[in-house]
Amino acid sequence: MLEAVERKIEQYIADLGDPDARMLYARLPHGKRLRARLILTIAGTSLPAVKTAAIVEMIHAASLLHDDVLDDAYVRRGHPSINAAFDNKTAIMFGDVLYSKGFLELNDIGREVAKVISEAVVRLSLGERNDILLAERFNTDRDAYLNMIDQKTAALIQASAEAAALLSGKDRNIYRTYGRNLGLAFQMIDDLLDITEDAATLGKPAMHDFAEGKTTLPYIYLHEALNEAGRDRLVALHGRPLRPADEQWIRTEMEKHHAIDRSRNEARRLITEAVELMEQAGETSLEAIARSMIERSF
Ligand code: FPP
Ligand code: MG
Repeated sequence: MLEAVERKIEQYIADLGDPDARMLYARLPHGKRLRARLILTIAGTSLPAVKTAAIVEMIHAASLLHDDVLDDAYVRRGHPSINAAFDNKTAIMFGDVLYSKGFLELNDIGREVAKVISEAVVRLSLGERNDILLAERFNTDRDAYLNMIDQKTAALIQASAEAAALLSGKDRNIYRTYGRNLGLAFQMIDDLLDITEDAATLGKPAMHDFAEGKTTLPYIYLHEALNEAGRDRLVALHGRPLRPADEQWIRTEMEKHHAIDRSRNEARRLITEAVELMEQAGETSLEAIARSMIERSF
C-alpha cells in the first residue's frame, strides 16, 4: 500500500531535475510513514490520496531536517542526520526544497485539503518555536507542554486524518479528533521512550531531551512529586549533558514516583478514546494503527 506513496515521492523528487536533491533524498531513512498509512487507510489508494500522503510525508521529512538542526541532533533513525553527515546549511536548504515542492503539489489537490494541510504546517512551525521557548527554563506547566505538542506533532497527524476524510467523503470531525488524540499520544510516547529506552533501540541518543532543556511530561510529574532537595537537584541538572549517575538517579526517582506510568496512562487514555471513536465509525484497521502507537519501543 505504501509503495505507491514511495513511488510518488520519488517522482516529485525526480521532477526537480536536480541531482543534489536526488542524492540527498536517497540518504533519508523513510521512517514509519505513520501519516501516509493513516491517509491511505482512511481514504483508500485513489490518486489524490496517494498524492496527499506523499506531500504530507515530504513536509514531515522537511520538518525533521530542520528539527535536527535546531535540536543539535546528529543521529536520526539509526543513521547520521543530514546536518551531521553534511552540515546545517544542507539540512535547512534540503528541508526547504522538500516542503516547497510539497506545497507546489498541494495546489493540485482540492482547495479544502490544501487549507487543512497548510494550516497544520503553520501550527507545526509555531509548535516548534514554542518547544524552543519552553526549553529555555525548567518548564513545570503541563498545559504549556500539552499545547506545544498539540501544535508540534498532533497538528499534522490530525490534518492527515481530516484531509483523508475529506478526500473520501467521511465525517471530518470524527477523524480529526482521532488524529489529534493519536498525535498527542504519539509525542507523549516519543518523550517517554527517550527516557526508558537505550540509544540502540531508539536509533538516536537516549535522554537527549532533558539535556536539550526539554522537560517532557515525566519530568513535569517528577518535579511535582519530589521534595525541595530533590527538586533543586533535578532543576540543577536541566539543560546540560547528564553524567551516567545523574541519568540513573532520574530514572530511579521516576520509577519511585510513577512519573513514567502516569505519563503512559495519559497516552493510553487518548488512544482508548480514539479506538472508541473508530469502533463507532466501523474502522477496524484504524484501531490497530492507534494501538501500535503505544505499543512501540522506538
Ligand atoms: C520533532 O520533535 C519535530 C516536529 C514534529 C516538528 C518540527 C517542525 C519544524 C522544524 C517547523 C518547520 C516546518 C517545516 C515544514 C520546515 P522532537 O524533536 O520532539 O522529536 P525527535 O525526537 O524525533 O527529534
Ligand atoms: Mg528533535
